[in-house]
Parts: sequence; C-alpha cells; structure tokens
Amino acid sequence: MDEYIVEMRHITKRFPGIVANDDVSIAIKKGEIFALLGENGAGKSTLMSMLFGMYEPDEGEILIRGEKVRIASPAHATQLSIGMVHQHFKLVENYTITENIVLGQEPKARLFGILPAVDIKGSDKKIAELSKRYGLEVDPRKKIEDVNVSTRQRVEILKMLYREAEILIFDEPTAVLTPQEIEFLLDIIRGLRNAGKTIILITHKLEEIKKVADRCAILCRGKLIDVLDVATTSTKTMANMMVGREVVFSIDKNPAKFGAEVLKVANITVKNQDGLPVVKNVSFSIRSGEIFAIAGVSGNGQTEVADAITGLIPVSGGKIFLKETDITNLSVRDRTLAGISYIPEDRQEVGLVLDFNLAENLALKEYFREPFCKKGVLQEEAFDEHGKKLIENYDIRSGQGIETVVRSMSGGNQQKAIIAREIELSSELMIFVQPTRGLDIGAIENIHRQILTQRDAGRAILLISLELDEIIGLADTIGVMYNGEMLNIAPAETLTANQVGEFMMGVKSV
Ligand SMILES: Nc1ncnc2c1ncn2[C@@H]1O[C@H](COP(=O)(O)OP(=O)(O)O)[C@@H](O)[C@H]1O
Ligand SMILES: [Mg+2]
Repeated sequence: MDEYIVEMRHITKRFPGIVANDDVSIAIKKGEIFALLGENGAGKSTLMSMLFGMYEPDEGEILIRGEKVRIASPAHATQLSIGMVHQHFKLVENYTITENIVLGQEPKARLFGILPAVDIKGSDKKIAELSKRYGLEVDPRKKIEDVNVSTRQRVEILKMLYREAEILIFDEPTAVLTPQEIEFLLDIIRGLRNAGKTIILITHKLEEIKKVADRCAILCRGKLIDVLDVATTSTKTMANMMVGREVVFSIDKNPAKFGAEVLKVANITVKNQDGLPVVKNVSFSIRSGEIFAIAGVSGNGQTEVADAITGLIPVSGGKIFLKETDITNLSVRDRTLAGISYIPEDRQEVGLVLDFNLAENLALKEYFREPFCKKGVLQEEAFDEHGKKLIENYDIRSGQGIETVVRSMSGGNQQKAIIAREIELSSELMIFVQPTRGLDIGAIENIHRQILTQRDAGRAILLISLELDEIIGLADTIGVMYNGEMLNIAPAETLTANQVGEFMMGVKSV
C-alpha cells in the first residue's frame, strides 16, 4: 500500500517521569495538509522530532512511502526528503541567507578546474528560483542578524526546499508572526501543497487549522484522541476534544473572603523588541484573599503582564497601582519592597543563583538589609538561621541542608525554595507564573497547598498558568488572554473548563 506517505504506528516515547507519546498512530496522505493539535506538553513536538530523526521511539514503527525505516538522525530524515521548521529557528546569525541555506550541503564548484570551492553564485541562483516559485521573497546576500522573524522563517522553509524535502513539518510556525504575516504564511503553505508537497502543521490555533488543513489529529497528554476531517468538524468540537477531559485532581478550597483591592492594572500596553504590542490595553484588579488566574495558550502576552507588574519590562501605556501607590515607574527592587513577591516561570535563570548555596538563595531578596547585612557587613549567622528555619517549615529537601549548592537539587525542591523565600517576604501581592511546570505530583500538591494558604491568609494572588486544570482548581477569578488581549474576566464558578478553552483558542469573543 502506498496510499500513505508517512505512517507512525503505535509510537511510544518516554522521558524521565513522563510518557510524552503513548501508543500514537497516525497516517498521512501524500499531498495533504495534516494538522497536529494539542495543548502545551501534549507531545506534538516530540512526535514530529521522531519523524525528523532527533529521537528514536521507545516502541512502535515508522513507515515512509510504505517502507519501514529507522530514522537515525536529521541527516537521514533529509535523505528521506523530510524537512522540519522548528519552533525555535536554527540559523547562524552572522552568516548570509545563502550560507545558512546551503550550510552542510555546499555545492562544490571547481576553482581553476581542480580545487573544490563553494559555489555561492550557483546557490544564489537556485535560491532565487525557489523563492520565486513559492513566493518566499528574501535577499540571499543579507545576514541573518539583519533580517526579521518572518524572513528568518522563510529562510528555514527555503532550507527545506533546497534539500528537496517533500514532507514538510512546521512546528508552531505562526506563534512568532503578526496576523498579516500569518495570512502570508498560510498562503505559502497552500502553495506548497498545490505543488505536491505533504505538509504537517503543528499549531494551537483552531482558526488556522480551519483555514488550511485537510485533516487534524488531536493529542492530549501524550495520547491520540482522534483524527478528524477538518471541513466537517466545528472549531468548537476541536477545542472541546483538546481540553475537554476530567479534571485529574480536585483541590480542597475554603470559601473565598475578599478584602480590599491590592493590585490594579489599568489599560497597560507592552511592546516587544520589534515595537509590536504584545499586551494590548489590559486591565484587571485583584483583591486581598483572591486568586486571580490568567489562562491562555503560551505566548499570548501573559508572561509580559507579569513582567510588567514586577518591573522587568516597561509598559508603553497604562498604569499599575499597588494599593494606593503608583508603581508604574519603580525599579524591580523598589516594587519588591513595596510588597510584591514573584515566583517566575524560569526558576533556574531568574528565580535562583544555581551556584550559590541554599542559605544564600533563600535570602536573595533581602541580603542587603538587616538582619542579613549590618553596616555593610554580611552576617553569615543570619543567613544560616533563616535558611534552617525555611528548610524546616517548607519541607525543602536537599543533600546537605543550607550548604547544598542549589544546582544539585531537584526541580520540585528548587521551586519549594523559591516559594518559601517569596512567602517570607510577607508581600501583599504574590505572582506565580507556571508554578508547577515540570514537577511531579507530590511537589505540585505541596505548591497548590501553599498558594491556597497564602490566599486564605489574605494575600492577593496572580496565577499565570498554561495548565487549565490548575487554573480551574485554584482560581477565584479567571481572565483569559488571547493575542495580547484580556478576552474575558469572570468568577471561576461561572466558567467550565471547556468555556475557558474556547476563549483560549479565540473561538469565543465577548
Ligand atoms: N528532551 C526532553 N526531556 C524530558 N522531557 C521532555 C523532553 N522533550 C519533551 N519533554 C516532555 O514531554 C512532554 C511533551 O512535550 P512536547 O512534545 O514538547 O509537547 P508539545 O510540543 O505538544 O507542547 C512534556 O511534558 C515535556 O516536558
Ligand atoms: Mg511543541
């Protein structure tokens, strides 16, 4: 049978502590646009990385053009005419576009008829032809560092075409693009299909699937839920299949007791490095005793909202108030002192100094003041005492107590350490960004309990999470961010997970 150009049968792939793909079978027809849909962490990239030879499946088999293959490396995938544009581009900044495209496959011209040399002129010509044929305009002599994101993406696509790929994998290609650029890319993808290529498109965005895909596989927590015919399925059905599932844990929660307003965010706008708005006129407020959760698919502006409140990035419009104080222009440290605790998404880069020991990390926000520092002299005893107390009170497990170098600790215990430190600041506002990402069930439960305890103690809590279950389980109030905007703010008890999911997908608008 050669009806299918790609078949992946009963594929299972495990990583330590997680089954990223669990007995997944898909079959892709030549010349179709096949979409892979699923929440963050559903296993989409892992599945495609195996087709591109970056990992080998633990179980299952792959057939290309009806033949069983073991795809040992990306180079091997390239030989099988499979190409992939990754979520994060893999280009060399100070090389030209041509150099990037031909990298690893330089055509050899012969200098003086004997010496091999890179035939850049010949490559330029071939690239120019390909750009013209597929509408992928680039200036081949420009350096990557001088071109924007959408051009970089075109370079990645040209790189696949230059290697004569027939099966083209796009891993969330529109995540980095503006709406106009997205339309343009979807046109290019249609053009590639019309030229006979087979396309696999990974995306979160239902409307894109609706626009270009023929069929769509839905993954949820590593498992294949279904493969659907896109033309005859509503986006609502797809959204429900993607997020519609039993909440796996139930969290015991006391009734909320809201107090006075602690945080007020008024019409803030944040721009990215290219000057494009990533947070658009967002407003909300959080009361004492309230968990306000922001739901949304990764990259819709949630992290930037947190960064704007903590002062890591400036706002280009709007104001932020903590109680009566306008903190819009305060430094990060002054905001901490004014009463903000922050548990960042990137616990290793932002939350901790990995090569410092636990005692030092636990005092990271306060080392400059008493009791840690007296008349400019650091007080070692104060660090030790504080460290021991927190290790005890927050059940932080480490090999050598306060002396443990934080790098050697497990992710869950690193996170417990950050949370302990931030709670001890007694701030009125606590911001948690993806607080349980990558942690095991035990650590997750510990952290959820801490968050609820802080809420019951009257703190205002901002929770940003990609995990819908976590949001539904913890939040008192839910706001959904989509494409930089806050689409909906409502009491948690008035929303179902499916409704939140629909807002997250941009299916619903208010
Ligand atoms: N190299 C890796 N090592 C350990 N865990 C991984 C690795 N790659 C992915 N994972 C885990 O596997 C799961 C699926 O990840 P991924 O395929 O990237 O999901 P998606 O692309 O759908 O967002 C996630 O829980 C992720 O944390
Ligand atoms: Mg992915």
